[in-house]
Amino acid sequence: MDTIGATCLLPGERALACPQENRPPLLDSSELGQECLKQFEVTRSQLQQIQVSLLGCMERALKGKADSAPAVRMLPTYVGSVPHGTEKGDFLVLELGATGASLRVLWVTLTGTEGYKVEPRSQEFVIPQDVVVGAGQQLFDFAAHCLSEFLDAQPVGNQPLQLGFSFSFPCHQTSLDRSTLISWTKGFKCSGVEGQDVVQLLRDAIQRKGTYNIDVVAVVNDTVGTMMGCELGAGPCEVGLIVDTGTNACYMEEARHVAALDEDRGRTCVSVEWGSFSDDGALAPVLTTFDHVLDQGSLNPGAQRFEKMIGGLYLGELVRLVLAHLAQHGALFGGHTSPALLSPGSLLLEHVAEMEDPCNGAAHTHTVLQGLGVSPDASDAELVQRVCAAVCSRAARLCAAALAAVLARLQHSREQRALQVAVATGGQVFERHPRFHNILKETVMHLAPECEVSFIPSVDGGGRGVAMVTAVAARLAAHRQLLEETLAPFQLNHEQLGAVQAQMREAMVRGLRGEASSLRMLPTYVRATPDGSERGDFLALDLGGTNFRVLVVHVTEGGVQITNQVYSIPEGVAQGSGQQLFDHIVDCIVDFQQRQGLSGQSLPLGFTFSFPCKQLGLDQGILLNWTKGFNASDCEGQDVVCLLREAIRRRQAVELNVVAIVNDTVGTMMSCGYEDPRCEMGLIVGTGTNACYMEELRNVTSVAGDSGHMCINMEWGAFGDDGSLGLLSTCFDAIVDQASINPGKQRFEKMISGMYLGEIVRHILLHLTSCGVLFRGRQAQCLQTKDIFKTKFLSEIESDSLALRQVRAILEDLGLLLTSDDALMVREVCQAVSRRAARLCGAGVAAVVEKIRENRGLEVLTVSVGVDGTLYKMHPHFSSLVATTVRELAPRCAVSFLQSEDGSGKGAALVTAVACRLAQTAQV
Ligand code: G6P
Ligand code: BGC
Ligand code: BGC
Repeated sequence: MDTIGATCLLPGERALACPQENRPPLLDSSELGQECLKQFEVTRSQLQQIQVSLLGCMERALKGKADSAPAVRMLPTYVGSVPHGTEKGDFLVLELGATGASLRVLWVTLTGTEGYKVEPRSQEFVIPQDVVVGAGQQLFDFAAHCLSEFLDAQPVGNQPLQLGFSFSFPCHQTSLDRSTLISWTKGFKCSGVEGQDVVQLLRDAIQRKGTYNIDVVAVVNDTVGTMMGCELGAGPCEVGLIVDTGTNACYMEEARHVAALDEDRGRTCVSVEWGSFSDDGALAPVLTTFDHVLDQGSLNPGAQRFEKMIGGLYLGELVRLVLAHLAQHGALFGGHTSPALLSPGSLLLEHVAEMEDPCNGAAHTHTVLQGLGVSPDASDAELVQRVCAAVCSRAARLCAAALAAVLARLQHSREQRALQVAVATGGQVFERHPRFHNILKETVMHLAPECEVSFIPSVDGGGRGVAMVTAVAARLAAHRQLLEETLAPFQLNHEQLGAVQAQMREAMVRGLRGEASSLRMLPTYVRATPDGSERGDFLALDLGGTNFRVLVVHVTEGGVQITNQVYSIPEGVAQGSGQQLFDHIVDCIVDFQQRQGLSGQSLPLGFTFSFPCKQLGLDQGILLNWTKGFNASDCEGQDVVCLLREAIRRRQAVELNVVAIVNDTVGTMMSCGYEDPRCEMGLIVGTGTNACYMEELRNVTSVAGDSGHMCINMEWGAFGDDGSLGLLSTCFDAIVDQASINPGKQRFEKMISGMYLGEIVRHILLHLTSCGVLFRGRQAQCLQTKDIFKTKFLSEIESDSLALRQVRAILEDLGLLLTSDDALMVREVCQAVSRRAARLCGAGVAAVVEKIRENRGLEVLTVSVGVDGTLYKMHPHFSSLVATTVRELAPRCAVSFLQSEDGSGKGAALVTAVACRLAQTAQV
């Protein structure tokens, strides 16, 4: 930067172009000096204007309402709590960018609450200028080299080292270890870094260096390190303030006020990045022409205007510009200048600080000015000191206005008028400039009189604070690793799912042949799906799902009308005697008939009985074993149609004609087949899970006949009961199975269906709590209770529309005390468990549709699957995950899934209608 740019008029100078009559009068040298000093005066109302405008910008940015180039960025730092002193361990800290063209490596030992402190070991490295403005890779390789050089002198061995990266530039952070550089400031201008994740760049450089096993677990802004490092004696600091080469502040904001975060509780640290504050309305009156000249001569003209009035990188330059101007206009050094005085960057912060030294300032001033090649007289030196004071006082007062805005924000966010707060301060301007701190303090007291502010100078430039954040990050990283290790067995890859599909296929074939198989492949005596000619009124029962329903179904030309009544099956009845259960069923039927005015009518009845039954005919079904929490005695091995008829008989005066017993999968297939004739498979994913499909009769060795089809109830819930799912079964599955009333049975069902997913999640949460990963390792009483974590919670917690705060609400209603990190992890556990269930279910469907395709020797099969069940219907992602898995594993089948609207009761009525129609045609 040569002479003062011609673009802007400075005091006492006039533009040649302007006409004689309105030229300002020429100023004598002392007036010129005064005029210059006056420019740096900032009035109280201007400071208040800046405070108010900055506060406005902060609140707009917090709400995410700021325009594209926000005046201040309000960047979340993912630091959720001030240090609680329990942090322990040895940590590496790398500081880049806080103190100009240098970086510092520290070895910090945190001793938790053991009360003694270990002095950090550190080493400073000057960054060559060509690196500061060179290629980004060069800068990060330089950093990795310095790390290595530092560690060469430390007793490291080859233990993995955890590093906290203090990176003092504006960054969009998305987690404690992911941070994208927005723009360089403070004289840095490396290429290929803006828009990049600086943690990854450092990790890559450390990798390239390859000397030490260093894991970068956290990246923090220097203000955060300063705040977190503040001595606990004074109580936790909740504001971090840096005035070094650059300036910035961070503070603990109520998380619910940070729109960028999906949080409603607790506090989170926000980096204000006030260096970019540039509200023309507020700043223009205080910006001097020297500021404009400095900005134009900087590496980032137009940016960081506020910082360029406060930061240590700029104060010296501002003073130099004023001195050069005064000298060039004869107001200083007799009008003499020098190359040094006219060359940018020749006057540094330390020079200004020395000249302002209350004791030896005058002497220092002479030394500094002679160093610049000018020879001051006493009045020159006095004026120079006054220029230094003017520039630095303005900086301190502007900084105070900004801090007062942060204090006002804290009052707002905490709805507190009187505020007591500790501000951690750091940076060379604080440390070196004799008066900066006091002017700042005084001005803050004027601008924020109701705030009681204590300023806590940071002891080690924030190194300890960065180590504390690193300790928290390391703990979270360790927790994350434990979480990922715990959930890894739930992530099934294509090969594993392909193996399940193949195993299920083999088991189907063996089951159809009546060979040993965990799939019973039970013929249902339903040979065709409805053809729409069915007619009549039918009663239907639907037992085995969440609800027991009694229905009356009217099948007419115009379609099917259904009236149904839901009845409960108390656990005592479901696990009581068979007689009691069937008497209860008949009671409900009688109650329904009375309500529907059907008493005394003997309508054909279809019985959806959703348990494994060996059918000998349409109206004969031998219960093989109970599932899904049912365990009524004296039923297994019995024909449940007989049990129902006996109960009807016991009830006298009730006429019921039980025509068909169907499994809910069959009822669902029939119900959907009535709308879509391509529907040849039924799928239930509810309390239990199962599937049926139309098999070629020739493949059903237990039923005579080679042509036509027979619907087969696969009872796939029992798949794997022969141990074939052993490789996929986790310790949590084993716990749930052992705690069930049918251990060793229904293994596939217990990995998929609604009755069990909540329990799997509960046991994973208990495990993660015992590892200290969740709920701070405190076992929650509520989670000890079986079945307390309902599967419907998974559907709610995984809903995309649910903010994290609502996830917390669900879990708090359960009685859990949790942090947002806990809520996030609980959601991940739910996602892993439900995703595995959907993928396994998809592998099962793929096995069936591929069998149908090959049965028919088709290149491509187009088929529909009728589906029912609360889990499938209510879970936000289950159905799409099943469909995706089927597409992956059975690409030659075009499968569409039809959600059954009326449940399988309608299907049972249709099966009954078909049976009645067939019976009539047989009589004719
Ligand atoms: C529907 C059908 C029932 C079936 C149930 C399964 O309600 O009508 O026959 O048993 O779905 O789902 P759920 O979630 O109730 O166990
Ligand atoms: C950066 C901030 C940093 C401040 C103090 C500014 O230039 O944008 O991120 O906190 O300097 O070092
Ligand atoms: C039963 C099946 C039923 C499925 C869905 C399983 O427990 O064994 O018969 O289809 O649940 O309800």
